[in-house]
Amino acid sequence: MTMITTEPNTETTLAQGKNYLAQTYARAPFVITHGEGMTVWDSTGKSYLDFVAGIAVMALGHSDPGVVQVMQEQAATLMHVSNLYYTPPQIQLAVQLCEASFADKVFFCNSGAEANEACIKFARKYARANGHQDKTEIIGFSHAFHGRTIGVLSVTPKPQYQDAFQPLMPGVHILPYNDIEAAQAAIGPHTCAVMIEPIQGEGGIHAATPKFLQTLRDLCDQYDALLIFDEVQCGLGRTGDLWAHTASGVTPDLMSLAKPLAAGLPIGAALMTDKVNAALAPGDHGSTFAGGSVVCAVASYALSRINTPEMLGHVQETGEYLMERLAELNSPHILDVRGRGLMIGMELDFPAAEVIQAGYDAGFLLVNAGPNVIRFVPPLIVEKQHIDALITFLSSFLASK
Ligand SMILES: Cc1ncc(COP(=O)(O)O)c(C=O)c1O
Repeated sequence: MTMITTEPNTETTLAQGKNYLAQTYARAPFVITHGEGMTVWDSTGKSYLDFVAGIAVMALGHSDPGVVQVMQEQAATLMHVSNLYYTPPQIQLAVQLCEASFADKVFFCNSGAEANEACIKFARKYARANGHQDKTEIIGFSHAFHGRTIGVLSVTPKPQYQDAFQPLMPGVHILPYNDIEAAQAAIGPHTCAVMIEPIQGEGGIHAATPKFLQTLRDLCDQYDALLIFDEVQCGLGRTGDLWAHTASGVTPDLMSLAKPLAAGLPIGAALMTDKVNAALAPGDHGSTFAGGSVVCAVASYALSRINTPEMLGHVQETGEYLMERLAELNSPHILDVRGRGLMIGMELDFPAAEVIQAGYDAGFLLVNAGPNVIRFVPPLIVEKQHIDALITFLSSFLASK
């Protein structure tokens, strides 16, 4: 691989980060300079096995040679012309996404929050286009995470994220996740859309039951509301299926994607059926950068690498292995281990931040999902030997607690 030639001075870079970056993130006390596969290195040369993957983004690992090659070739061919024009990479990606899913049409954007905003706008337009002026309510669920822009923040019911930014978007109702009776009581003629993560990521790795998803589908059908699945984190191979919802047998009207779709480049997508698209017209929504040629060429390549029986089988196998090895830890500090494929949460009886900090010292990148849950979302190319190394670290850390 091409090495970075000038290593930054660590102290200076950390100080400049504090001085010049808006302080909206709590960051680790080191500077990451490069990566390859499952590993990243900091500016002192220390290596870390990456079980975060840029928060479920780097599905193919760091600096994947195929990704780099497609990116370089497309950058040298055509980078950006806007959505005033058709370009081959954008169309090819749309064809691939539709052929691999329930969807008939795709709207591209640049992030998960934007994809969910698009889904909400399209649902509102669908209701209006079908003559329902006051069918505007959006149903969301406890512990959901749909993004940080004002619209989708309104469906992300965490006081710590919401309170300082009130007033949020009106017309949102939050129901308890997996509570069938509450859904039956709340969803009705004024419901415009129901937005749900089939497996909640940030909220602590909780899966919706197939029965709950089917209930939502039935209620949406009954009241002509749209069912939106947010697969920004759980989609695109992370569970060992291409889509997390496939195992439930329930199909949405809209689905949001982002994180791993372009293997590290910013992208979002709102996938929809023709029924939804029929309500849309030029000017309803848009974005300058969306569907750019480089991003779409890389996403098209990444999707073709992820959507193979070998890759999905690998995720199932390594996910089951990680689950088994976590179960073997058998520590009284572990309250629960849950999830599917390579989206696994380990709930602890102490703050997850302690494990994350110890992980840094031992050469592991780890991330939490809520205060007490460690979320394992490594690159999909993780191997058993990486998992063994992680388990050795966790085992000695937990024994020392
Ligand atoms: C399920 C889900 N939806 C939406 C988002 C927001 O995505 P982004 O940070 O790209 O806006 C996230 C990000 O963590 C997510 O996990």
